[in-house]
Amino acid sequence: MKAEILPASEAMERALALLRAGEVVAIPTETVYGLAGDATNGLAVAKIFEAKGRPRFNPLIAHVASLEMAQRVGRFDPLSRKLAETFWPGPLTLVLPLQPDTDIHPLVTAGLDTIALRMPRGFGAALIGRLGRPLAAPSANSSGRISPTSAQAVQSDLGGKIRLIVDAGSTAVGLESTIVKVGQDSLRLLRPGGVPASEIEAAAGMPLERGGGDGIQAPGMMASHYAPGAAVRLNARSVGKGEALLAFGPDRAKGWEEAVAMRNLSPAGDLREAAANLFSFLRELDDSGASSIAVEPVPVDGLGEAINDRLTRAAAPRDKLPAPD
Ligand code: TXA
Ligand code: MG
Repeated sequence: MKAEILPASEAMERALALLRAGEVVAIPTETVYGLAGDATNGLAVAKIFEAKGRPRFNPLIAHVASLEMAQRVGRFDPLSRKLAETFWPGPLTLVLPLQPDTDIHPLVTAGLDTIALRMPRGFGAALIGRLGRPLAAPSANSSGRISPTSAQAVQSDLGGKIRLIVDAGSTAVGLESTIVKVGQDSLRLLRPGGVPASEIEAAAGMPLERGGGDGIQAPGMMASHYAPGAAVRLNARSVGKGEALLAFGPDRAKGWEEAVAMRNLSPAGDLREAAANLFSFLRELDDSGASSIAVEPVPVDGLGEAINDRLTRAAAPRDKLPAPD
């Protein structure tokens, strides 16, 4: 069975009706498509976990339509307010202390005393505004698969499990949001994403802490993740027999003419363009039937940090850890 796909311009009332009835709906955001449900409705949130096959210890992001809605759910201090004012709506998620008297269902936070909050752009924000409540929404992919950047990608992965996909075309950013945990006088980068770390540091006037610290803070960030079916080989300077090539920039890896299939993330070497193309090109090369995808080096500055993070996860051994997300 397939889900119904409606263009965003026609989908508002139908999406609202389904969400009010406790159903889940796949919606576009500027980062990736999300699988959304009413964050105050435990049954709706349970349906999200079920459709994705996601372990329940892995908390969800609550999406809001305004800073006011966010403040009813999370406790903002001057630093988190500054970041929200600078980057919202947009691809930044803030992990903040959970308000004690919130009606967010505890399944959303997996029982933690913190909550991940983000204000998306476009259809999602309008939908949440109309609903008047936050939407819990992880990326609309089966746990462990590549995040969808088009309605068709959602259909081919989750189409049999959900009723409606709202279609707004390809997502503009193409990578998930950057996740930052705000502590007392500290900021920790939990996941690089659509806002480059350097922009957050500039706005905050302080450096982001990375890695180590007090253990796994974004439970979904385990090594094996975003896994295509084909093996993924990073920093390739040459193409092996039977391999597909994920290229970047103007210079080609040796033997590229023999590649089973090739996509170039950005012929001009533009990281923004590369981010927007990353997940759909990985899917396309995976579908080419190649046993392995060779990936040319991508610089690590700016958005390149998040691109390399996702590529590293795509290349990680699959049997080591359960893919949680
Ligand atoms: O761009 C995005 O962020 C997309 C769109 C749909 O908004 N959403 C997304 O959600 O990527 P998801 O569930 O695939 O990833 C959310 C990540 C997970 O790694 C989860 O563990 C982490 O956020 N997370 C959620 N709540 C958390 C919390 N309270 N503390 C730490 N990490 C948290
Ligand atoms: Mg995800």
